[in-house]
Amino acid sequence: MRDLTNNPTKFAIETTNLTKKYGDLVAVDKLSLTIDYGEVFGLLGPNGAGKTTIISMLCTITNPTSGTATVNGFNILKQPANVRRSIGIVFQDPSIDDRLTGRENLQLHACLYDIPTELTKRRVAEVLNLVGLEDRANDPMKTYSGGMRRRLELARGLLHSPKVLFLDEPTLGLDPQTREHLWTYIENLSRSSEITIILTTHYMEEADRLCSRVAIIDYGKIKVVDTPANLKAALKGDVITVTTAQPEKLATRLTELKLTTYIDASKDTLRLTVSNAEKLIPRLIKITAEIGVEVSSVSVHHPTLNDVFLYYTGHEIRTEEAESLFRKYMMIGRPTR
Ligand SMILES: Nc1ncnc2c1ncn2[C@@H]1O[C@H](COP(=O)(O)OP(=O)(O)O)[C@@H](O)[C@H]1O
Ligand SMILES: [Mg+2]
Repeated sequence: MRDLTNNPTKFAIETTNLTKKYGDLVAVDKLSLTIDYGEVFGLLGPNGAGKTTIISMLCTITNPTSGTATVNGFNILKQPANVRRSIGIVFQDPSIDDRLTGRENLQLHACLYDIPTELTKRRVAEVLNLVGLEDRANDPMKTYSGGMRRRLELARGLLHSPKVLFLDEPTLGLDPQTREHLWTYIENLSRSSEITIILTTHYMEEADRLCSRVAIIDYGKIKVVDTPANLKAALKGDVITVTTAQPEKLATRLTELKLTTYIDASKDTLRLTVSNAEKLIPRLIKITAEIGVEVSSVSVHHPTLNDVFLYYTGHEIRTEEAESLFRKYMMIGRPTR
C-alpha cells in the first residue's frame, strides 16, 4: 500500500460545478461543495435525486459530463488511481460473494488492495471487531442476515484504512433495530478515527443522527448545506399539523390573513410554520369554525429535518418508494445459486 496520508490538501472533498447528464436528463447539476477532513457529511434526498451518481463520480466509477472534483486532494479525472486508493465504498446494491465466509470476503478484498500479508490478519481482526462480527466470521455469508451483510460490507470498506469512506444508503431496507446498530458502528468509527465519511440517505433520522453537515439534494441540485441543528433552527418556529378533510380551504384562509410563514397542504393534513404555536392555536380553531372547516386533530412540534426538507423542496421524501425498489432488486436482481 502506498502512503497517502501526507497528501497536502485542505479538503477531503472539493467539487467544482460537477455535472452528470444522461441524454437530456441532468442527474447532477453543477454541484460545488467542500467537505472537511473528519466530517460525516450527508447527501439527503429522495430516490432519483442524484446521490448515487455523485458518489459514483467521486469514486471514479463514472466520469462527469462537465466540472471536476478532488478526493483526498487527488483529481478524479487526472489521478483516478490515487483517488481509488484513498477511498472505501459501501454500495447501495449488495456486492458480496455469498459462497465465501465473512473472513474470506475480507481476505479477498485485502488481496485486491495489495495489503501486505502480515498486515492483513491484523486489519481483518480489527474491522471484524469494529462491526461486531468476530463470532460469525467463519460462517458462509449466505447464512448472514441483511444487517450482518451490511456490517461486513462496512468492514470491507474500511479494511485498507481509507481516508474517505463512501456509504451509499447504508441502512436501506434494514429493520429499525438493525439500523440503530449500524448507526452506532458508524458513530464509533467517526469518533475513533480521522476518517471522513460521506453518506447518502433518504432517512431524515439517519442524517440528523449521524451527520456533522447535511446537503439537501433534489433533482440533482443542492438546495441548502448546513448542520442539522442550524437547518432546523433556520425554520424559526414551531410546526402545527392540522388534520382536516379540507386542508386547501383552511390554507387559503390562513394565507389571506397572513398568519403563517409556510404552508403545505396535502391529502388530509395541513402543515404550518408559525413563530408561536401556543398563541396561534385558539385563533386557528376560531377561524376553522368561521369558515366551516372541520378539524379532527391539531398537533405541535419543533422543526425536524423533515420540515426542513419540505421547506426547501416543496415536497416530502417518499421512503416507501425507495424501499419497494430495493426489495424488488433484492428479489429479482440478485443471482441465485
Ligand atoms: N446509467 C444511467 N442511465 C440513465 N439514467 C440514469 C443512470 N443512472 C442514473 N440515472 C438517472 O439519474 C437520476 C439520478 O439517479 P441516482 O443518482 O441513482 O439517484 P439517487 O441515488 O439519489 O436515487 C435518476 O433520474 C436516474 O434515473
Ligand atoms: Mg441511490
